[in-house]
Amino acid sequence: MSIKKTEKIWHNGKLIPWEDAQIHVLSHVVSYGSSVFEGIRCYDTKQGPAAFRLREHMRRLLNSGHIYRMECPYSLDELCAAAAEVVRESHLSSCYIRPIALRGYGDVGVNPLQNPIEVYIACWEWGAYLGSEALEQGVDVCVSSWARMAANTLPAMSKAGANYMNSQLIRMEAIANGYAEGIALDTNGYVSEGSGENIFLVQDGVVSTPPLASSVLPGITRNSILALCEDLAIPVREQMIPREMLYIADEVFFTGTAAEVTPLRSIDRITVGAGKRGTVTRRLQEEFFAILTGAKPDRHNWLTPVSALVGAGSLVR
Ligand SMILES: Cc1ncc(COP(=O)(O)O)c(C=O)c1O
Repeated sequence: MSIKKTEKIWHNGKLIPWEDAQIHVLSHVVSYGSSVFEGIRCYDTKQGPAAFRLREHMRRLLNSGHIYRMECPYSLDELCAAAAEVVRESHLSSCYIRPIALRGYGDVGVNPLQNPIEVYIACWEWGAYLGSEALEQGVDVCVSSWARMAANTLPAMSKAGANYMNSQLIRMEAIANGYAEGIALDTNGYVSEGSGENIFLVQDGVVSTPPLASSVLPGITRNSILALCEDLAIPVREQMIPREMLYIADEVFFTGTAAEVTPLRSIDRITVGAGKRGTVTRRLQEEFFAILTGAKPDRHNWLTPVSALVGAGSLVR
């Protein structure tokens, strides 16, 4: 999906023109992958554009950096206010927000500590990630020949740019073989996650998802679905999932900011359940979207209307 340019990008406390958001080719991040980032959806609501779980995303950004000794020079409140400014400047009613913190230009060598930390926040218009029909019809996926990062190698709990080299391998292989997406196993052979999505299974009415110890990103959508299962009294377990459970599950679905809640129709050309969106997936999707569109009250306070934060003081004046 190509990026649709907007006017301004937030950089270290200032809104700058989109074209000026550039880095030097010798910035540390280019050679060594030293960045952490977020992806946040902003939905069109009666209160105007509202970011989904903005604080949780920005907290994860700070945590992702902290793991890498990369302390962000901006507070959680400042980052949330900055995202609101960027969305307001874009005049979009719904969009995707991309905060990135990276190690910039200065020193050369693996040691990143002498390089400045640059923080950018951009936003642009975005639709359904796995295709507009995917939410209803489901997608055909495969189990990847690539495993997710082994424990104590690249930390899966940090949403670091470097992890997405692994994601790219998973996704490119899936596309080359005619699938919409790949599911990675962890290095012990248990189900981990998609290249950019967490995964859930439904069997006999019980929902399960791999634990964080299976090399998964602690997805904000994953967390939201766990909360919705509890609200709807759907039994839910975080448990190690053997690969073959994917094939015999009644329903399997992906969750993620980009994928939202996307059913899987087949895995390795083996039909999942009835080969279409299952009843539990549908119920969770409906509840999820009802909250996001305002059809149901936002009982968990997941939505932050951008107007509530604009002027909260993120800009250097
Ligand atoms: C590898 C990976 N797993 C899971 C997710 C889902 O996380 P979230 O729901 O926070 O978008 C993402 C997307 O950010 C991801 O890139």
